[in-house]
Amino acid sequence: MRLKLFDSLATPKDVEQVAAILGSNRGVTETLLDVLETKGLLTKADGRYVNTPMASEFLVSTSPFWQGSFLLSQQERHHMLINDMENLMQGRARAGQGTPGQHWISVDALKTLGQFSLQGSLQDMVAFIAALPAFSDMRTMSDVGGNHGRYTMALLEENPQLTGEILDVPPAVPAIQALCDESDHRDRLSVRGFDLRRDTLPDAAYDLVLISHVLHLFSRSLPKVLKTLAAGVAPGGWLVSQTLDRECRGSPTIRLVRELMTRMMGVQTHFLTEEHMDLIRTTLRDEGFGDFRTSRGGPNGMSLIFAARKGA
Ligand SMILES: C[S@@+](CC[C@H](N)C(=O)[O-])C[C@H]1O[C@@H](n2cnc3c(N)ncnc32)[C@H](O)[C@@H]1O
Repeated sequence: MRLKLFDSLATPKDVEQVAAILGSNRGVTETLLDVLETKGLLTKADGRYVNTPMASEFLVSTSPFWQGSFLLSQQERHHMLINDMENLMQGRARAGQGTPGQHWISVDALKTLGQFSLQGSLQDMVAFIAALPAFSDMRTMSDVGGNHGRYTMALLEENPQLTGEILDVPPAVPAIQALCDESDHRDRLSVRGFDLRRDTLPDAAYDLVLISHVLHLFSRSLPKVLKTLAAGVAPGGWLVSQTLDRECRGSPTIRLVRELMTRMMGVQTHFLTEEHMDLIRTTLRDEGFGDFRTSRGGPNGMSLIFAARKGA
């Protein structure tokens, strides 16, 4: 990522050409290119290497789906967790832990998480919501824990009548506002400080309440949080969540390493279980919701998209 190697390999090049561009040792460069070929990121023909479609889409810095900042941030996080593993295994707090929202005061941090959403979670979620009955009639939505705001922006793109409100913890608001100001849809976007632990939504105000990759933070207080969200949904409107699913059929290694990192970061879980989902359905049924729907999405099919409609 740092060397922009994949930018150079948008067109086929031999080892000498790549080594000249990077200013690198020929032997090291050749072996690195061969490793990347075995990983499915490059193909080799007639002694020349070129990006595979996956590398072109995700690893070239001019691609709209570029994952560079996200991958570097993951590397930094992995280093931090591994270097501090003895402490974290004891359940001791990390340095800087306990300041909710502080990470999100930076526009770059928001953009980095926004890159992750483009690995498929966003596309799958937006396609699912756009196919819900009455999507084209929706006029108001809120995105709770909306962060980079990309989900809202993509839905405003799909529905030109929709206005969106991004709600997130107060320290994150200025950076989110800065991102919204850059959006083509800024006239239909607003941002507001909101704490799901104690604030309430305006009563029956939204045709859509979206909550993506947030509910796992509340795995021990789901009924309370669900009631807060449900109150904001207008009659006939939808509540849609996205969470990582423990029952998913994706790679067990990816799932377990993600959960290990999450727990070492001091969060109870990143995955909701079938019991959690049953509790969500029971709570929402009591709040007058039905028409429950689920779909899979995201990288490795690890996300569970869940939707429920409030009675009209
Ligand atoms: C993992 S991010 C998810 C961002 C985005 N929805 C997505 O799916 O890419 C979790 C978000 O939840 C927000 N959050 C955490 N605790 C919150 C709370 N108590 N009230 C509101 N938002 C909260 C964080 O600030 C962060 O923006």
